[in-house]
Amino acid sequence: MKHITCIEDLRQVHMRKVPKAFFDYADRGSYTEATLRANRDDLQAIKFRQRVLVDVSKRDLSTRILGEPAALPLILAPVGLTGMQFGDGEIHACRAAQEAGIPYTLSTMSICSIEDVAANVTKPFWFQLYVMKDRGFIKALIERAIAAKCSALVLTVDLQVIGQRHADIKNGMTVPPEWTLSKFLDFATKPAWVAGVLRGKRRTFGNLVGHLKGTDDITALGTWIGTQFDTTLSWKDVEWIRSIWPGKLILKGILDVEDAEEAVKTGAQALVVSNHGGRQLDGAPSSIEVLPEIADAVGSQMEVMFDGGIRSGQDLMRALALGAKSAMIGRAYIHGLGAFGGPGVTKAIDLIRAELSTTMGLCGVNTIAEIDDHVLAV
Ligand code: FNR
Repeated sequence: MKHITCIEDLRQVHMRKVPKAFFDYADRGSYTEATLRANRDDLQAIKFRQRVLVDVSKRDLSTRILGEPAALPLILAPVGLTGMQFGDGEIHACRAAQEAGIPYTLSTMSICSIEDVAANVTKPFWFQLYVMKDRGFIKALIERAIAAKCSALVLTVDLQVIGQRHADIKNGMTVPPEWTLSKFLDFATKPAWVAGVLRGKRRTFGNLVGHLKGTDDITALGTWIGTQFDTTLSWKDVEWIRSIWPGKLILKGILDVEDAEEAVKTGAQALVVSNHGGRQLDGAPSSIEVLPEIADAVGSQMEVMFDGGIRSGQDLMRALALGAKSAMIGRAYIHGLGAFGGPGVTKAIDLIRAELSTTMGLCGVNTIAEIDDHVLAV
């Protein structure tokens, strides 16, 4: 791993080691991928102000996230099917985050269940919720998250209607999965991945197992999920969730100031400015484009978090400079996981930490609290 110097290196190894269908599932975006590209391009276009002859010998990257101490203003985002990138991927990613002193978010659509992860890590983690039509199931999931002592609920609000990813259809990432000769051949060239996934605790949606009369069958679960995304979801449902979840609540997937203002009224502690990593509304603005106006509008009333396109510590610093208190990464750690398992996730976090530290030094700042738009060149 010593020749891995940036997240793109991890991505290249991920691409080589994991079957194309799963790599593309992680890497690609919806429709023309205009928003996926904009997330990256708009971040890259932001320039820093280089400052010199400032004593930057005591740089401190620590901060607080929702009042809790964190080693870095960084969070691992919820990512569905993480356990298909590497066997028991959710457990490995959560452990890496906890060792690094940052929060990990488990997806509703994880392979390892809430209980699997809780039994294999030492500290509380965050749970991400998709509100499905079957509200009895949602209530039960929330009760499971409470029982597992999850320390925040991340309610994702941008998936009422599902954006199409062309690559997933072409790769047969359907339910049931489509098997072609080329897919078999691809899997056959990745025996380490196959063995790792087979050694893992599960190969289906861990949180849903047992819900359908005890079935572990991925086809039955997938068909059920396909009918469950709820187009009627509204702010009233957020009130309901608020009433049954006693802990910290984060609304993920806000991209509009009016929605952010509505989010304040729900009593949630935080929101995540996010377009789901360019996987939902193709043609939506990049997350970084809308971050400043949302942070200006609601930043004094709730904690503003960010995600979309972060692949380096420089990108993280750009988000902090434009008003985010912390940021989530999705693909950046998934590339590490697919490439090397848990140590790859640690590597991704280490790279971002080192790049952030260097960037702070070259911009003449010593603490996270000092980072604002003064570090940017206009
Ligand atoms: C996601 N994302 C996501 N979000 C969520 O709330 N629940 C989920 O289950 C998933 N699943 C998922 C799978 C994959 C493969 C990816 C790449 C992303 C979105 C994720 O939490 C986050 O918003 C984006 O990944 C952020 O963009 P970057 O960091 O990947 O550019």
